Amino acid sequence: MKTLTLKIDGKEIEAKEDMTILEAAEKLGIQIPTLCHHKKLEPYGACRICSVEIETRGKSRIVAACCYPVKNNLNVTTRSTQIDKIRKTILELAAVTAGEDAMGEMRKLASEYNADLSHLRSKTPIEPTRCILCGLCVRRCIEATWDSVIGFIGRGTKRQIALYPEKASICTICDYCHDVCPTGKITSTGPDPPFPQIDDVLAGRE
Ligand code: FES
Repeated sequence: MKTLTLKIDGKEIEAKEDMTILEAAEKLGIQIPTLCHHKKLEPYGACRICSVEIETRGKSRIVAACCYPVKNNLNVTTRSTQIDKIRKTILELAAVTAGEDAMGEMRKLASEYNADLSHLRSKTPIEPTRCILCGLCVRRCIEATWDSVIGFIGRGTKRQIALYPEKASICTICDYCHDVCPTGKITSTGPDPPFPQIDDVLAGRE
């Protein structure tokens, strides 16, 4: 496999061509925050908290470090005013759906990026669900059961994770998803509060 050379925060590193920026940064001891990423799962690129700035041939842009592959002569910046602002907003939005009490480890990030977790939360009537919609449990479910027992439903502020009723019995025997949940919503005995069933959501009962 080819080895490529790039710079991350001014430090040169050699990385294998199948690595992502996130993995190359880890090799250098540079921490990039993640929410929807998990080593057990394929990269997904949903939350964007791992946003970094890349520069090639004089052009710069923001990419998700967990998905973006390393490239020769890439110049990566992992912290800047713009990047910090993106991360701050993402954390404040996560608190809207999760509720401040479920932010767990994200509180440390919130203080690092000066995010005010009550800022947007207090302006919305949305009932907190302890879920940040990172999708880790949905992806873990597919990989563990070779099927979808849970899935996303709805758009915008109505988006949530729900259970397919015809597969609910499988859900009680697997227990794979709780260790990937970043908020603690999914305990070893299941989601708390439980995921609604998809037919109840569609019928407006949830
Ligand atoms: S951790 Fe990279 S997009 Fe979520």
